[in-house]
Amino acid sequence: MAVITCIDDLKRLYHRRVPKMFYDYAESGSYTEQTFRENTTDFTRIRLKQKVAVDMSGRSTEGSLLGQKVAMPLALSPVGLTGMQRADGEIKAAKAAEKFGVPYTLSTMSICSIEDVAAHTSAPFWFQLYVMRDQEFLAAVIERAKKAGCSALVLTLDLQILGQRHKDLKNGLSAPPKMTIPNMIDLATKWGWGMEMLKTKRRFFGNIIGHAKGVTDASSLFSWTAEQFDPKLDWDKIAAIRDMWGGKLILKGILDEDDARRAADFGADAIIVSNHGGRQLDGALSSIRMLPSILAAVGGRTEVYMDSGIRSGQDILKAMALGADGCMAGRAYIYGLGAMGEAGVTKALEVMQKELDISMALCGERQLSEVGRHNLLIPKGFFDAYE
Ligand code: GLV
Repeated sequence: MAVITCIDDLKRLYHRRVPKMFYDYAESGSYTEQTFRENTTDFTRIRLKQKVAVDMSGRSTEGSLLGQKVAMPLALSPVGLTGMQRADGEIKAAKAAEKFGVPYTLSTMSICSIEDVAAHTSAPFWFQLYVMRDQEFLAAVIERAKKAGCSALVLTLDLQILGQRHKDLKNGLSAPPKMTIPNMIDLATKWGWGMEMLKTKRRFFGNIIGHAKGVTDASSLFSWTAEQFDPKLDWDKIAAIRDMWGGKLILKGILDEDDARRAADFGADAIIVSNHGGRQLDGALSSIRMLPSILAAVGGRTEVYMDSGIRSGQDILKAMALGADGCMAGRAYIYGLGAMGEAGVTKALEVMQKELDISMALCGERQLSEVGRHNLLIPKGFFDAYE
């Protein structure tokens, strides 16, 4: 097998091995995909400053997230349908994260259930919650996450209505895929994926099936979100969820300074600056562009993580140098998972850690706690190009 040296190598393998429907699901943004694209291209506009003749020995990529020591300050983002990218995908990704020493976040819309992931791991993971109209289901799923020992609840605030991604509609995305002629033709070329999938029982939304009532098509993310997600989610409801949960709470999808201030006043343990990987509001600014003003609004009152656009260790370095307390990445590990299963997730983490370590060294830094704006070259007007 070819030597894997970067996330793009994993992405190429992933593209070859995973059915088109699920590749497209991960690799798309909403509408024109402008925000999806700019999440990564904006990172390339920020440059690193080389520094020489500095002692580079004793470097470390360690950091801390919510007071927990981590091998690098990166958590795996919640990704819906991960168990369709690879059989038992959530369990495999959670295991890789645990061995590597970073947190894993399980999506509400996962294939493997909360209980299943807990049974196959020993480190506590984070649980991402979508707020449902069905109060019984909502209370029960929070209880299940508590019972499973989840160490934080990641409450997603930017997806009460699903953004439109054209490819998903055209592909008829569902879990498991329906046996239409185009799907069968595609699956015939992805036999490795199919063989593993036939061997597992985990092919449906594991947190939902058998737990929620009144869903007309439980295999469709569109029907499920339209019928079940609560469009009335507001700060009062967030407070009610905080009380039900009672543990560490992370608010995900903050992209506005006032929202960030409000989240800090509210006492969130952390916020995630995110545009949902460009999958929700197309036309929103990239997360990295929004990061500095949100950090300023929060003023250190809560931890601030940055998600959307992280594909390399250099991206992590740039976000940390701008002042983020941590980063989150979804697609980067999904490529690894689809390419090589658990080993691929480990590979993705190793690749990013190595990039982070080498780039830090060449910037003359040994610890992430010491990186800052002095390591960056930022185009003039980059952060205040829009009002
Ligand atoms: C979330 O479930 C998404 O599809 O972005």
